[in-house]
Order: sequence, then structure tokens, then C-alpha cells
Amino acid sequence: MSAIHDKNNPFHAKLVDRRRLSSAASLKDTQHFSVSLDGSGLSYKCGDSLGVFPTNNAKSVADLLKAAGFTGTESVTIPKDTTAITLKEALTNRLSLNGPTYKFVQLLHDRATDEAQKAALASRIAEADPEKKKSWIEQYEYVDLFEEFSSAKISAQELIELQRKLMPRLYSISSAPSKYPNEIHLTVAVVRYETNGRKREGVCSTYLADRAQLNTAEVPVFVAHSHFGLPADDSVPVIMVGPGTGVAPFRSFVMDRATRGAKGRNWLFFGDQRKDHDFLYADEWADYLKSGALTRLDLAFSRDQAEKIYVQDRMRENAAELWKWISEGAYFYVCGDAKRMAKDVDAALHQIVSEYGKMSPEAAVDWVKHFKKEGRYQRDVY
Ligand SMILES: Cc1cc2nc3c(=O)[nH]c(=O)nc-3n(C[C@H](O)[C@H](O)[C@H](O)COP(=O)(O)OP(=O)(O)OC[C@H]3O[C@@H](n4cnc5c(N)ncnc54)[C@H](O)[C@@H]3O)c2cc1C
Ligand SMILES: NC(=O)c1ccc[n+]([C@@H]2O[C@H](COP(=O)([O-])OP(=O)(O)OC[C@H]3O[C@@H](n4cnc5c(N)ncnc54)[C@H](OP(=O)(O)O)[C@@H]3O)[C@@H](O)[C@H]2O)c1
Repeated sequence: MSAIHDKNNPFHAKLVDRRRLSSAASLKDTQHFSVSLDGSGLSYKCGDSLGVFPTNNAKSVADLLKAAGFTGTESVTIPKDTTAITLKEALTNRLSLNGPTYKFVQLLHDRATDEAQKAALASRIAEADPEKKKSWIEQYEYVDLFEEFSSAKISAQELIELQRKLMPRLYSISSAPSKYPNEIHLTVAVVRYETNGRKREGVCSTYLADRAQLNTAEVPVFVAHSHFGLPADDSVPVIMVGPGTGVAPFRSFVMDRATRGAKGRNWLFFGDQRKDHDFLYADEWADYLKSGALTRLDLAFSRDQAEKIYVQDRMRENAAELWKWISEGAYFYVCGDAKRMAKDVDAALHQIVSEYGKMSPEAAVDWVKHFKKEGRYQRDVY
């Protein structure tokens, strides 16, 4: 019997497909990945996520070693581990190269031999405005601090004891087990941005996009099972709100219902920046609409016109029909950005419930709470 693979014993999977979903002219880089489960003994259901353990970019590791004056061969022991490993190994596979804390800034201050550097660090530490203090450190990665405050020398062990652990990232699975029992698809926005005048990259999204080799058993993964999922009863209608990469689990839902010939109606609200560049899986949705597997598709492209149009605007425009579906027993799902989108969609839902369900705003709050409690309002937001 093969070993059971989980977060503590990830399966080293092959990445078997990688392609761009957004166009070359898109302002975003959203990619589709297929991970093979062959030989893993792993299974999944619609709504589950895949956990991926990334490796840091070798160039970022080399830059940090150089800036800090290490060779990489220094021996270190990760806290709570017993075996010693090289600093290079620790920085490549075990620790996060970003997110330095003020504890580290304090250590640099204490060790700085250059008076100007010491004073600059002291003034950052003494900053009274918490917002300013936070936004300053957020601009920095370890490499910048070592470069800018080069007179401070610290040991390899001191460094690694202050670094955060490199954690696995979760991705909503965008394939259906009924169609792809031995493969998991992911829909990933590749994270690239700039802070402190330097180009930065998200560790795991660029690991999948740039560094993981195709067809090589090397990507450590595990399946994270979730309560998020399709209703047990295939005849129940579902309403899915998934802008951007939030569409991932809904590709899985619709693919699954289509593959199994489930009769329940499916309504998707999708949105992204521009129709010509960011319409993820456009051909598949067209086919599903044609076959009837997808009952309705409402689109909100935010940057195709002067004013922003978002998924919640489409919900409001179709509020009477949306309320009708909900009254007929539909489940309501939201996936994607937690900070703004999910809050605004929640507010639109409350408004629709209040107006079309003829309830006071307070009664609508109670109604939505009950809707959630029944498991008919589910969210997978990040
Ligand atoms: C349940 C769940 C499901 C998810 N599903 C998906 C999915 O289907 N698809 C998907 O793409 N993601 C998904 N995510 C998000 C995913 O897990 C990762 O968080 C994402 O890919 C970023 O990881 P990373 O390692 O590439 O970036 P990291 O190395 O973690 O870097 C991200 C960090 O970079 C910083 N940052 C990013 N942009 C900027 C900016 N413009 N300015 C300043 N700082 C910035 C922020 O501190 C941010 O937290 C999901 C998350 C969860 C919890
Ligand atoms: N740090 C943040 O504040 C933040 C916010 C969103 C996403 N993210 C991250 O960025 C990555 C890419 O995200 P993604 O590809 O899934 O898409 P996304 O950036 O969430 O964008 C998808 C669509 O949602 C729109 N949108 C923006 N604000 C919205 C709101 N309040 N309500 C409804 N829709 C809204 C966007 O429009 P416009 O872009 O034209 O406004 C775009 O058309 C993810 O890793 C995500 O976690 C970060």
C-alpha cells in the first residue's frame, strides 16, 4: 500500500500542463496549471483546494547571501528541528525571504557600526505613528535591509531564527474529479509587484509559473478538503459569483455537473479587467452555454468602459431573477478576493434580500445568517 499523502507527507507531483489564460496584452498574468495525481492515491472533490509547497527563487537566495556576506555553506538549525542544514538549503526551501520584522531591525540597529546607519535604524524603531511604522517595513525584504545597513553583521543562525517559515499556499481546484480523477487543475494569478523601487514576486505563483519543471515529479502537493462544495442534491440550482481567479471552483462545479448530466440550473457571475484579455476559459463557458450545462452567464468587465462595472452590479441588475432562484432553493457561492469583492457582494446580497424579500435591513441580516447556517451561502475567499 502506498503511503498516505497529506500536508505532513506531500506527494511529489508532476506539473503536466501550464498555459496562460490572460492574453499577452493583459495587465495580469493568470495561468492554468495541471498537476498529475498518478501514483499518489490522492482524490479530491469539487470545492477542495490543492496545497503547494514552493521553493524560493535561486537568484533571490543568492542575492540575500551576497548582501548578508554569507557563502551559503554555514550550518544552521531551524527552530524546533534537530538536524543541521546549510544556510542555502534553509533559505531555498524552509524560510520566507520577505516580511522582516522590527525584531530584525532592532538586531541590525544593535550591531550597526556605522553611526549614520545606526541613527537611521533608531529613528525607524522609534517611529510613533503605527501606520508609518508598518508601511516602512512593508517596503523591505531582508536583502534590502542587509544592503542598506551593511555595517551590521549578524550570524546565519541569528538570521534564520528571525525569518518566518515558508508556508504552503492553497489554490482552489478548478477541475472536476468526475472528468479528471487523476489530475488537478489550478487557475493562478501570478503575483509580481514593486516595493522600495525593486521588482518583487510572489513565491508560490512564480514557482509554478517560472521555476517548476514540466513532467518532473517535483512539486510537493497535498489536497486540502473543504466544506465548500456543490449541494448533494443535483437538482438544486446554484448561483456562483467568481471574478478573477475566484472562478476556479466554479469551473470545477459546472464541469462536474455537465460530466455527470446533473439537471440543476447553474448561473455564473464572472468578471475581470478586460473582455479581450482577461475572459478566463471563455471557450469553455461558450460550450457549456450551448449545451445547456450553464444556464446563465453574466459578465462584468471592469475596465472596458469609463466607469467600473463589477459582479455585484450585475447581481443588482438581475436582482428579481436572482431572488427568484434563491426562493426556489438555489445555493449562493462566492469565491475570490476577500478584502473588497466578497464584502461588496455580501452587501449586494443583503440589499437584494431586503428589497425583493420585502424585509427590513435588520431582518435581511438575520435572513442571510440563516441562509449561511443552512449551508446555502458558502464562501471561499482569500
Ligand atoms: C482557500 C484559498 C484558495 C485560494 N485559491 C487561489 C486560486 O484559485 N488562485 C490564486 O491565484 N490564488 C489563490 N489563493 C491565494 C494563494 O494561496 C496565494 O496567496 C497567492 O498565489 C499568492 O502567493 P505567492 O506565494 O505567489 O505570493 P507571496 O509570496 O505570498 O506574496 C504575496 C504577498 O505579496 C505582497 N503583495 C502582493 N501584491 C502586492 C502589491 N501590489 N504591493 C505590495 N505588496 C504586495 C502581499 O504582502 C501579499 O500578501 C487562495 C488562497 C486560499 C487561502
Ligand atoms: N491586495 C489587494 O487589495 C487585492 C485585491 C484583489 C486581489 N488581490 C490579489 O490579486 C490576485 C489576483 O486577483 P484575481 O485575478 O483573482 O482578480 P482581482 O484582482 O480580484 O480582480 C478581478 C476583477 O474584480 C474586480 N474588482 C476589484 N474590486 C472589486 C470589488 N470591490 N468588487 C467586485 N469586483 C472587484 C477587478 O476590477 P479592477 O481591478 O478593474 O478594479 C477585476 O475586474 C490574487 O492573488 C488576489 O488575492 C489583492
